[in-house]
Amino acid sequence: MNNCILVVDDQPINVRLLDVQLKAAGYTVLPAYGGQEALDMVNKHMPDIILLDIMMPGMDGYETCRSLKSNPKTAGIPVIFISALTDVNEKVNAFKCGGVDYICKPFQRDEVLSRVSTHLKLYFLQKSLQQQIDAEIAKRQSREQLLVQQSKMAAMGEMLGMIVHQWKQPLNAISSTAQDLEDAFIHNELDKQYLHSSVNTIISQTDFMLRTADDFRNFLRPSKAKTSFSVKNAIEEVISMFSPYFAKSGIAINISCSGDDFSTTGYPNEFKQVILNLINNARDAILTHPNNPKAAIDIHITAMAITIRDTGGGIPEAIIGRIFDAYFTTKAPDMGTGIGLYMSKTIIETNMGWRLTASNIEGGAEFKIVLKE
Ligand SMILES: Nc1ncnc2c1ncn2[C@@H]1O[C@H](COP(=O)(O)OP(=O)(O)OP(=O)(O)O)[C@@H](O)[C@H]1O
Ligand SMILES: [Mg+2]
Repeated sequence: MNNCILVVDDQPINVRLLDVQLKAAGYTVLPAYGGQEALDMVNKHMPDIILLDIMMPGMDGYETCRSLKSNPKTAGIPVIFISALTDVNEKVNAFKCGGVDYICKPFQRDEVLSRVSTHLKLYFLQKSLQQQIDAEIAKRQSREQLLVQQSKMAAMGEMLGMIVHQWKQPLNAISSTAQDLEDAFIHNELDKQYLHSSVNTIISQTDFMLRTADDFRNFLRPSKAKTSFSVKNAIEEVISMFSPYFAKSGIAINISCSGDDFSTTGYPNEFKQVILNLINNARDAILTHPNNPKAAIDIHITAMAITIRDTGGGIPEAIIGRIFDAYFTTKAPDMGTGIGLYMSKTIIETNMGWRLTASNIEGGAEFKIVLKE
């Protein structure tokens, strides 16, 4: 398709002259005889370039150009002024209005042609550059959106996995309490005291589940405030809630402390979940450790660190570098998801600014939460 040039001049003779010369050079030419007419033609035909006379009755060339430049749709079309005015101020004015070039009348045919051709080339180059940039920006934006979307989905999936993980224990407890109740009834052992303690167990388990759900809902909210809490109290709360089930498996949990000030600042609920993850792991290791002479979890608390030791035989050296990875597990699919330690490390290190490390000791593993170096 031929490039289209709008020629604007109030003198028909000038329009005709340019029309002949430009057409001979292979351009399509549109004529306009005044500023307003030019604006209408531009909006209708979107020419590739405009040759614009300055002195015209009514709307002059400057005003016409300013109007074109103020409209985002037409602002990019190059305007070359053609005028008999030779004063340097007029030329400066032409550029100020947004013109790209200035040709003096009487014009030379070759000069007009080469200026038109140069500005057309520049214009198309600029246009294609802009298109490439726009396309690149659009591509990048959609890639970023996809990434944000994917990480949101991953976080939500993780959260769901965590809730399932944290609910498994209380659900088992509730289910076995229900079974116990029926057994007790069948064996005529169901008195008021038995019923009362079973109901309490169920209520405390469901309370824990509700709190876990709330905690996890809050977990992804970034603006949660840290609070001051006692690590000793937090650990004792977790242990008192879960020790019955550990006792059932024949595992003793021992807590010891040195020092007396255990206050710290952080997220107490998440901290408790970390402790629960660590003692659940210790329990699993102890229960699957063959010929285990001792079944115990020792928790030692100081103002500097919390150490959790078990007698589960330790972590095989071949995997010790990967246990904190998301979804790394050595357990059967229905026994472990591999999220426990990944989540614990994120909570302890990213959210609290502490450190969580793992190592092996005689007969078992040691997990350490370092509060202060
Ligand atoms: N105390 C421990 N002793 C020995 N091995 C351990 C211990 N704690 C963790 N591990 C190893 O690290 C792996 C990852 O633990 P992690 O808690 O992340 O996942 P998981 O316990 O397998 O599953 P879940 O998501 O249900 O916690 C475990 O599968 C186990 O092989
Ligand atoms: Mg685990």
